Amino acid sequence: MSGAGKSHDVWVPRAASIAREAGARLREFYAQGVETEYKGDVDLVTVADRTVEKLIRERLGAVFPEHGIYGEEGTRERLDQEYRWYVDPLDGTTNFAHGFPQFCVSMGLEQRPHGTMPEDDGTLVAAVIYDPLRDELFTAERGCGARLNDKPLHVSKNALLAESLVATGFPSRKRHQSPNIHFYQEFTLRSHGVRRAGSAALDLAYVAAGRMDAFWEFNLNPWDTAAGILLVEEAGGRVTDFAGNPYRLESSEILASNGLIHAELLGFFDAMFAGRDLSPIPSPEEWAAARAAAGR
Ligand code: IPD
Ligand code: CA
Ligand code: CA
Repeated sequence: MSGAGKSHDVWVPRAASIAREAGARLREFYAQGVETEYKGDVDLVTVADRTVEKLIRERLGAVFPEHGIYGEEGTRERLDQEYRWYVDPLDGTTNFAHGFPQFCVSMGLEQRPHGTMPEDDGTLVAAVIYDPLRDELFTAERGCGARLNDKPLHVSKNALLAESLVATGFPSRKRHQSPNIHFYQEFTLRSHGVRRAGSAALDLAYVAAGRMDAFWEFNLNPWDTAAGILLVEEAGGRVTDFAGNPYRLESSEILASNGLIHAELLGFFDAMFAGRDLSPIPSPEEWAAARAAAGR
């Protein structure tokens, strides 16, 4: 996929400058510290999320007045248009609020030709993810490849899960309904390790960059994933649901990888969902009993 087709970007340069401005605002808020509010359970939001979404909405509206915008903090504009930006002004709000330096701005552009049914996906055509603390700008346009600060990006060449570093995340809503801790445990036992860094968009960008070999999560939203999916695909990777079906923006499951370990991962999900191949580990109670028996 990478590099073929179009020879230059159509949307990325202007979107990237908006993401850089948005990231600069996030950096200022981060330095000064912000109050945290709850959207529900442990779902946090800050003045930075809202201010930066407003900024992106205004800038996108000025630069691409014919494009729609669908933002995490409530923006719903011109959704009947052929192009639609999915915007997460601050992916990694919990990190941001705690001073943990892992968060980004994420903007993904979907093309929805007229006549596309509301329940159908269009085609992701442009992606910008900006990490303002590391000054890392991940960009892609369909057919042009993926780049990090203008240098070409490629997924890793790792062909075995056992030699992979993988990533996941956990929802901040309905936490008791997520089975993901079981997958976290199994992947920990079968890989070099699982990172749970708290920004799904950066997790996907890191798969595109070959820093991670795979990423999976339950119940993400289009603003979390739209840009990252195109980055992974344009960097030579693969994105599906847990059964290997093409990923859809409204899907409640995402599996992204370098492509080489995808089949192995899908087999593993299949086995897990069927209750097979679970590795026994001691319960805390068993461990405490063994500790007492050993006199420790
Ligand atoms: C969250 C992050 C996190 C993921 C959560 C998302 P937010 O987005 O991407 O990594 O595990 O599911 O909700 O709320 O920080 O924009
Ligand atoms: Ca998010
Ligand atoms: Ca967010």
